[in-house]
Amino acid sequence: MAAKPKILVTRLLPEPVEARLKAQFDVVLNPGDSQLAAAEITDKLAGFDGVLVCPTEKCDAGFISNLPETVKIIATFSVGYDHIDIETAAKAGLVVTNTPDVLTDATADTALLLMLGSARGAYWGEQMVRQKTWGRWSPTTPLGVDVTGRRLGIFGMGRIGQAVAKRAQGFDMEIHYHNRSQLPPELEQGAVFHQTLENLLPNSDFLSINCASTPETRGVLNAQTIALLPDGAIVINTARGDIIDDDAVIKALYSGKLAAAGLDVFNNEPDIDQRYRTMENVFLLPHLGSATPQTRIAMGMRAVDNLEQFFAGQAPGDQVNHTL
Ligand code: DGY
Repeated sequence: MAAKPKILVTRLLPEPVEARLKAQFDVVLNPGDSQLAAAEITDKLAGFDGVLVCPTEKCDAGFISNLPETVKIIATFSVGYDHIDIETAAKAGLVVTNTPDVLTDATADTALLLMLGSARGAYWGEQMVRQKTWGRWSPTTPLGVDVTGRRLGIFGMGRIGQAVAKRAQGFDMEIHYHNRSQLPPELEQGAVFHQTLENLLPNSDFLSINCASTPETRGVLNAQTIALLPDGAIVINTARGDIIDDDAVIKALYSGKLAAAGLDVFNNEPDIDQRYRTMENVFLLPHLGSATPQTRIAMGMRAVDNLEQFFAGQAPGDQVNHTL
């Protein structure tokens, strides 16, 4: 019987996923979920065939150049793969895979939670109850912002963007979007396409960021683009923190140009810009977009599917790069 491929898993994964990995591979897990430095991972990988990583592991050009030659696949437990230098990986003959589709609904649900939470003051309302600063009910204060019937701009109308649109239609929102290309009518579902982000922004009472983090999208929500939003707009981010210029967003939140923000992802997680922690008009979550047991198991199973396909000599279904 041929030896099973050797796989290193960098983080603790849901139990059913680890059970399947143990059955299919000669696997080294990380039961203590310790934080492994890049050099530790590349050292551990001596003689291994593949590695299963998470967005917490930066697989940059330096990491890839230190990988033993036996390693042929990096499977990430995430839909986003901005933590992996996929071009360098391709040049090194490494296949990179991700876990799309299975986290679409959970992430879109989180976007709606952020939208409602930021618009209706979920943070400050909760604080009032818990800290007993809740006085008499009042007709005039405190007040949030209406969601129903407002314009939602979606930047990035892929699977998650479309799922956000579908949910927002339940709130009678008028959907606008900008995407690299216009969707066919059956996917657009009446949403209004804008050729440029600059055209989308003035139509976005709420802006939901749902694009991938790429060199083109990094920092695109900055002082110039925020100025194009309607006064009192609300920004929602479930994609990646680096799409936002924190300084510009925080200034706009202080000035009231932005009424609020709902953020699940940040630059430099978990050491986020300290100012966010002090602001009342932000609703913050610690990167929980896909954080349900069902979704996390499905993500892990998808990563294992990709590893199995690869070692069976097939092209993995979720390969995101093309080896040369
Ligand atoms: C992803 O899959 O890219 C998420 O950010 C992790 O939930």
